[in-house]
Amino acid sequence: MKVLVTGGTGFIGSHTCVELLEKGHDVVIIDNLVNSSPKVVDRIRAITGRDVTFYKEDVRNRKALDEIFEKHDIGCAIHFAGLKAVGESVRMPLEYYDNNLNSTITLCETMRDHNCKNIIFSSSATVYDSANKVPLKETDLTGNCTNPYGWTKYMSEQIMRDTAFADEEWSVTLLRYFNPIGAHPSGLIGEDPRGIPNNLMPYISQVAVGRLDHLNVFGNDYDTPDGTGVRDYIHVVDLAAGHVAAIDYMEDHKGENVFNLGTGIGYSVLDMVHSFERVNNIKIPYEIAPRRAGDLATTYSSPQKSAEVLGWKAKYNLDDMCRDSWNWQSKNPMGYDTE
Ligand code: WQD
Repeated sequence: MKVLVTGGTGFIGSHTCVELLEKGHDVVIIDNLVNSSPKVVDRIRAITGRDVTFYKEDVRNRKALDEIFEKHDIGCAIHFAGLKAVGESVRMPLEYYDNNLNSTITLCETMRDHNCKNIIFSSSATVYDSANKVPLKETDLTGNCTNPYGWTKYMSEQIMRDTAFADEEWSVTLLRYFNPIGAHPSGLIGEDPRGIPNNLMPYISQVAVGRLDHLNVFGNDYDTPDGTGVRDYIHVVDLAAGHVAAIDYMEDHKGENVFNLGTGIGYSVLDMVHSFERVNNIKIPYEIAPRRAGDLATTYSSPQKSAEVLGWKAKYNLDDMCRDSWNWQSKNPMGYDTE
């Protein structure tokens, strides 16, 4: 199948393109490169030995999208493109609502008008109401999001849900990611956030490679085994495989389908630090800092539905994730800007 991957040069998008190509699909990427490097396209070609079509465009550009759908027989779209920094979304809500919602609406309108009604959406565990008990299940309450970024994921899900309700020809698959980390084992693609990383693993990796002095552990007084935050970390290659499984499922299933992509295992911040140190034989200096506003103590998934319905299960463990993250960072100390 020819798959349109919006945001395909991003962290998760690029890894998904590799999996799609290796499973025999053809890939067309649309990405405005606001948060990623054009070098990723050649890295995807190098890993897979296959060509990929790339358009440097904004998904809100209806004319550009029309040209892509006129030129290519797109069977399905996987929609990653979007701004995704929680803190930034609190400071810049209008940019987040404009970018994330108008890209979703423009993409769905264009797909409808070109009679392509299969979409897989990059959603997030952040759509779950924090009042839910863990492990989080797909039927749990969503909403009451704590930041504009989370609301844009919640609202995008609703836009697609209503689109599927209005036209039974649509197949809408909502994939709710937990905490994607790691990198492709080749070390050619990986996580390369702009500026100081917000997320734990890229921060640890940049401490390890000497770009940052030490890790600040945001609180060690949570109600968790060692007092630090617990999350469901999932290897980005496992996550990418989940998207390929979703394409296979989508071909025979119309309507709205929701799946958690997580391991179902919660690891603490210090679990991650200790695993990274042991697997890579590197010391990660850290200091205990105040809690970060908005952080939950513990969150992790029930991946049971994805296993039973998609036939997908995460294969990699925390050591694998730490090993592959370091392999990427050590080979690309400055990310894609490494000359
Ligand atoms: C993980 C743990 C922090 C950084 C976020 C988004 C979520 C999703 C995944 C997009 C927490 C602690 C972190 C640091 C630390 N993104 N931490 N020091 O917050 O679970 O989820 O990324 O969909 O929407 O909210 O991930 O990696 O930021 O934090 O101690 O420098 O690491 O307190 O316990 P989070 P994270």
